Amino acid sequence: MARYEITGGQPLNGEVTISGAKNAAVAILPAAVLVAGKCRVENVPDISDVRILLDILEDMGVQVTHVEPGVVELDSTNVTSTHPNPDLVRKMRASYYLMGVLLSRFGEASVALPGGCNFASRPIDQHLKGFRALGAEVAETEDYVNLFPGPDGLHGSRISLDVVSVGATMNIIMAACLIPGQTVIENAAKEPHIVDLANFLNTMGAHISGAGTDTVKIRGVEKLRGGTYTIIPDQIEAGTYLAAVAAAGGNVLVKNVIPKHMDCITSKLQEMGARVLNYDDSIRIISEGRLRNTTVKTRPYPGFPTDMQAQICVCMSLASGVSRLTENVYETRFFGYCSELQNMGAEILINGKTAIVTGQEKLRGASVTAHDLRAGAALVIAGLAAEGVTRIRNIHFVERGYENIIHKLTALGARIDRVED
Ligand code: EPU
Repeated sequence: MARYEITGGQPLNGEVTISGAKNAAVAILPAAVLVAGKCRVENVPDISDVRILLDILEDMGVQVTHVEPGVVELDSTNVTSTHPNPDLVRKMRASYYLMGVLLSRFGEASVALPGGCNFASRPIDQHLKGFRALGAEVAETEDYVNLFPGPDGLHGSRISLDVVSVGATMNIIMAACLIPGQTVIENAAKEPHIVDLANFLNTMGAHISGAGTDTVKIRGVEKLRGGTYTIIPDQIEAGTYLAAVAAAGGNVLVKNVIPKHMDCITSKLQEMGARVLNYDDSIRIISEGRLRNTTVKTRPYPGFPTDMQAQICVCMSLASGVSRLTENVYETRFFGYCSELQNMGAEILINGKTAIVTGQEKLRGASVTAHDLRAGAALVIAGLAAEGVTRIRNIHFVERGYENIIHKLTALGARIDRVED
């Protein structure tokens, strides 16, 4: 077990380079199974979720070659198993994409239910509804999903999602790629990583249009060919560093970002008093003096992301006045970190899906526990901004999604160490 020890109160200054997007990588790497050939994927973040996924793929017969840091080659020519290792599958959330890719390429799949951050009930009924519409029989047990062709075989279809789901949108896109006929997904999610997945698949020969809008169309093709693709920068990692500078103060150039993807986050930080300067592929943030209160409501893209809820809550905890933070995607997400922030002096009252945050002049260092990935990131930010020493346990959650976080923060002048118990 390891923990982070942070001595807070240092402003952050300098430059930080953002890694490839986690939630794009964890879809694109399994999507390589759709290609009976070689894919070279660049800007792959070195985070534990990606490492687990590559282990799962290798175990299924995908030849995985680490060409250089951030570059992976996957050759799925000889995939034999449609039954990925359940112990590995249960270690992460995005392993559910193996259902869609195996159904599409082999017409069958037997995949354990996924694990991952448990900040809310996270059903996959919309993924399964999509597979059924594509002609699959879905047999569910307590901890497994088995998919095989129904009496009419697999075929394109029209699917209207009951909720806007990132995972279901991506899984159905992947499943439809090699299934004959046209599939239309209505009420699709529009996150940047959905566009990235579609771009990856189109580069390999798929026919997908409309990704990034609420109607995505996929025309099944017979096969995909190999190719090279570069993953987009991570919107949430970038947002986390921007929030860290807003909360702790300083002047930082956040490099390798797509500023358009960041508008929903930077506009709020500006409202709170931070100065934000957008360049072609970087953003400078300058934060001096105290932040101001604001109101945030999380929404699917292009709204304010639920994955930034905890980090903005830290900014609100230090702002002047009372802020309101409403969670519209995962109502129970507050419980992963608010009590930990309260241990550091934050004043947060949770009323249903809204947190009412009364800003304090200062937070104080404390021993706290990360209960999920973004909760852990928020505690890191709180520790950087707080007076005194903060010790964060359960940092394996943070390392699921943030490449080299210690190195990146230290380069900005933070005093943070990873201490082995
Ligand atoms: N939902 C259903 N049924 C489904 C799928 C979703 O009811 O079949 C509901 C969920 O309960 C939730 C809403 O729909 O209320 C949205 O869930 P979504 O499916 O979009 O979430 P996800 O695909 O499981 C991904 C990210 C999460 C991120 C959410 C929302 C990955 C691997 N995970 O999860 O990322 O919070 O989208 O943007 O892409 C993170 O990175 O920390 C993280 C948790």
